[in-house]
Amino acid sequence: MTARLIQAIHELDGVLDSIRKAGRSIGLVPTMGALHAGHGRLIDAAVRETECVVVSIFVNPIQFDQRSDFERYPRPLEADVAFCAARGAEIVFAPSADEIYPRAQRAFVDVEVVSEGLCGAFRPGHFRGVATVVLKLFNIVRPARAYFGEKDAQQLAVIRRMSEDLNVPVEIVEVPTLREPDGLAFSSRNNHLNAAQRVKAALLYRALQTAARTIADGEKDARAVVREASAIFNGWEDVRLEYLEIVDPDEMQPLNRIDGPVRVACAAWVGSTRLIDNILCKPSAS
Ligand code: PAF
Repeated sequence: MTARLIQAIHELDGVLDSIRKAGRSIGLVPTMGALHAGHGRLIDAAVRETECVVVSIFVNPIQFDQRSDFERYPRPLEADVAFCAARGAEIVFAPSADEIYPRAQRAFVDVEVVSEGLCGAFRPGHFRGVATVVLKLFNIVRPARAYFGEKDAQQLAVIRRMSEDLNVPVEIVEVPTLREPDGLAFSSRNNHLNAAQRVKAALLYRALQTAARTIADGEKDARAVVREASAIFNGWEDVRLEYLEIVDPDEMQPLNRIDGPVRVACAAWVGSTRLIDNILCKPSAS
C-alpha cells in the first residue's frame, strides 16, 4: 500500500474534487505527526467508515504556548507517511506553515466556556489555535467525517461545539483511548519519559479509576471524589498534579454534584513532561 503525499492546497483540491465526483466519502484524521498506535486507531476507524482517508500532518504553530515546545516537536515525516500507508490511508496532507498561514492570521475561532477550564486555564490560547486550524482543515478537505481521540476530551468537546455552533457540515467521530497494559494512554509525550518516570506516569489512570470506583459506589459529592482520587499522587517524587476535576461532558465546566454521566479529567507533570488523561464515569443507577 502507498499513500500519496500532498503538500500544496491547490493539488489537494484537484485530487479531492475527483474523489468527490466519483461519489466516494472522505474521512479526515487531523494530526501533528509523530504517529503512534493511538493515531493508528483513529486511522483504522476512518478506513472502516469512509472510502478515502486523508491524514493531515501539521505541527500547528498557533496552538503552542511555548515556542521551544513547538520547535522541538518531532517531525518524522517519512516514517509517518509509511505508517499511514500501512493502515490504508490514501492521502497524507502535510502542508508547510506558509501554506496554512500565508500571511498574518486575523481571523480566529474562540469556543467560549468549553475551552476555558481544565487545560485551557493552563495553556492560554491553545484551544483557539486548535479550533482555528481544525476549521481551516475542515474547509480545505471538506470531509464527511473527522476523527478525534477521546484522550483529548476537551479538544474534542471544543471541536464538536465549534462544528455544531458554526454549522460545519462534518460528522465528528470520537475514538476511544488506546492504553498500555498499565493503563497509560498512548501519547507522543510518553517518549520523553525515562524508565522511572514511565512507571509514575501510570498514576494518572490509577487516579481516574479511583474516581470511577468512588462514583460507581454512589458518592455524589464531586469534591469528595476529587479528594480521594487526587490522593493517589501524594508522596511521589518528581510528580506534580496540575488539576483533577469532574466536569460536565459537553460544557467541560466543573460540577459540585454527580447526578449523571461526568468526565473526570486530570493533568500531571512527571519530570518535565506534562501528561493528560480522562474517563467518562456514570453514577450507580440508585
Ligand atoms: O490533537 C492534535 O494532534 C492537534 O491538536 C490537532 C487536532 C491535529 C490540531 O492541530
